[in-house]
Amino acid sequence: MTQKISITNYIPADHSELLRLLLVLHSSYFDENAPKQFQELRQEKSMKSSYENYLTGIEKNKDDTWKILVAKTLSGKIAGFIIGSISEDEELVLGNIGRLEDWFVEPEFRKEGTGLVLYNELEKWFKSKGCKQVTSGTWEGNDLSISAHKKAGFFISEITFSKKI
Ligand SMILES: CC(C)(COP(=O)(O)OP(=O)(O)OC[C@H]1O[C@@H](n2cnc3c(N)ncnc32)[C@H](O)[C@@H]1OP(=O)(O)O)[C@@H](O)C(=O)NCCC(=O)NCCS
Repeated sequence: MTQKISITNYIPADHSELLRLLLVLHSSYFDENAPKQFQELRQEKSMKSSYENYLTGIEKNKDDTWKILVAKTLSGKIAGFIIGSISEDEELVLGNIGRLEDWFVEPEFRKEGTGLVLYNELEKWFKSKGCKQVTSGTWEGNDLSISAHKKAGFFISEITFSKKI
């Protein structure tokens, strides 16, 4: 069933729910879907403290180079979120670069356009900050992510190789 969703800026009251969703994305979704060899290379010592530190770091960021947008239902439940950051490569003509860091919609809210609305809002923010390109990444085989990126206008650019030694 399609529910009314609104996109808002992250507020500190969203912290614990956002942390939970970050862990769902990087823990259960990753464990269920990423290739086993890749999981081994990305295994973290403590997922919870890694993402607590990540989120706290974004909250403390004062130079407006990070953005978290959340998609909320009318009752205030977080249905999804997107996180972006901005960096500068002085050597490039299009060197003001937006990075799509994390993008997640809860399974029950997927395929209703929420993911694209979140991305389009983030892209508006990137443009307002002078970004001329956006980069993002996922692992090979994350078809949901690949099709959503293509729908949002991305093309596949680089390929990364990994090997355990
Ligand atoms: C990627 C994600 C955020 C998209 O959220 P969403 O709310 O489902 O996205 P939308 O409904 O706006 O759909 C956007 C497009 O993604 C693609 N898509 C979404 N669900 C899909 C599915 N089940 N199968 C194939 N393509 C799908 C479609 O191209 C879709 O556009 P369309 O409906 O017009 O065909 C969501 O699927 C998700 O959380 N995936 C798991 C986490 C993940 O992989 N995140 C990205 C990490 S880099």
